[in-house]
Amino acid sequence: MNNKKPPKATSNTFTLTNNKTGESYELPVLSGTMGPDVIDVRRLYADTGHFTYDPGYTSTGSCESKITFIDGEKGILLYRGYPIDVLAEQSDFMEVCNLLLYGDLPSQSQKKKFERDITYHTMLHEQLNYFFRGFRRDSHPMAVMVGVVGALSAFYHDSTDITDPYHRMVASYRLIAKMPTIAAMAYKYTIGQPFVYPRNDLKFSENFLYMMFGTPCEEFKVNPVLAKAMDRILILHADHEQNASTSTVRLAGSSGANPFACIAAGIASLWGPAHGGANEAVLNMLTEIGDAKNIPEFIKRAKDKDDPFRLMGFGHRVYKNFDPRARVLEKTCHEVLDELGIEDEPLLDIAVELERIALEDDYFVSKKLYPNVDFYSGIIFKAMGIPTSLFTVLFAVARTVGWVAQWNEMIEDPTQKIGRPRQLFMGDKEKKYIPLHKRK
Ligand code: SDX
Repeated sequence: MNNKKPPKATSNTFTLTNNKTGESYELPVLSGTMGPDVIDVRRLYADTGHFTYDPGYTSTGSCESKITFIDGEKGILLYRGYPIDVLAEQSDFMEVCNLLLYGDLPSQSQKKKFERDITYHTMLHEQLNYFFRGFRRDSHPMAVMVGVVGALSAFYHDSTDITDPYHRMVASYRLIAKMPTIAAMAYKYTIGQPFVYPRNDLKFSENFLYMMFGTPCEEFKVNPVLAKAMDRILILHADHEQNASTSTVRLAGSSGANPFACIAAGIASLWGPAHGGANEAVLNMLTEIGDAKNIPEFIKRAKDKDDPFRLMGFGHRVYKNFDPRARVLEKTCHEVLDELGIEDEPLLDIAVELERIALEDDYFVSKKLYPNVDFYSGIIFKAMGIPTSLFTVLFAVARTVGWVAQWNEMIEDPTQKIGRPRQLFMGDKEKKYIPLHKRK
């Protein structure tokens, strides 16, 4: 039963006046528990024959949600009300998954049961091993992940009925549990090593690193500091309100598509360098910069309107202050390098110097461009021995819980309907068809 309370209609309204006809139109204003009020335009077209127009949805709320709150001006990020830095320090990824899915922190017994349920879904249908073999060995791991996740609905028919809460729960658990297995298999496949099966005696992040770096030839012990760092990185990437990939999942799900297809759509959207693909692009950028003395040239290019180059890992649609996740990742970066005894990481030196210079430059300050979640994560992954091509795959492993939580919230929303935006048409008016033999 959905205990959904409608948003509070405020006494406030916005009046639209058509200066051509002099007609006025009252628009209701709705309030949430936090964040900006919204102007409810759902009746606008029916009542006035006008669409709103907001390419990139810079000023558009697409849904109600209770999952994640962001205050971009203050650099605040809350998962179900809990600050991200507190969760990163005191929680673990399994607890955060339960929190995002169910709305509050689990009891000890609830957490124990949730972890066990997820653990027993980490194995993949054995037939999928052959699915991997269809890819070239040099395939980008994101291409493999998109393909394999999209194919899961062909193997797990018993959890594709989206009207059945039990099916939705099983599909959600399967997706959260199997993403690390798929990610590790995508990695092993590209390096020509045998797949390593998950182990039920290992914790989620430890199991992931075990599948990534273990081999059948010898016992492999995961470094607990690296497992903790990976777990924290997964927490930081778990959800982020209505970002591009989450909006993709919601839009795909609004048509009634099965959850595996929806998450595959989210993975495809995340792959873009403007979104989750930025972590890979940051490493490539730092490598291209190569030496701190080259930073001014890249800053100049980033500011040049005629140059498509942007400072990867900088800027954000919502954060106009520090991305709180970037601060935790910077600290984690130093912890991982220290643990691995890496004293000299030139890419980190370049990143720190690049951040310092950019944050003193008026272009970045005036446009409120700060380091975002992708700026430091790649340096940590590289130090862990993870290839650059796998960085966005790791982002997808983490974000799957956010996608499925938002997908469930959308399906359970009684006001939910298929998403179908309109447009401002700029094409040709109706033309007369000229048969081919009459054309010159
Ligand atoms: C993620 O939405 C989310 O929540 C995403 C995410 C999540 O957890 O899901 O947080 C994860 O995707 C983080 C962002 C990763 N992407 C990058 O690091 C790529 C580099 N960043 C930019 O491409 C850009 O900042 C975006 C895409 C992140 C945000 O772009 P917006 O909101 O559309 O802003 P914009 O392009 O309109 O930029 C505003 C101005 C522009 O200049 P003007 O036209 O106003 O003169 O700032 C400039 C831009 O040219 N600008 C940059 C810049 N980012 C913005 N200039 C140089 N370098 C940059 N990185």
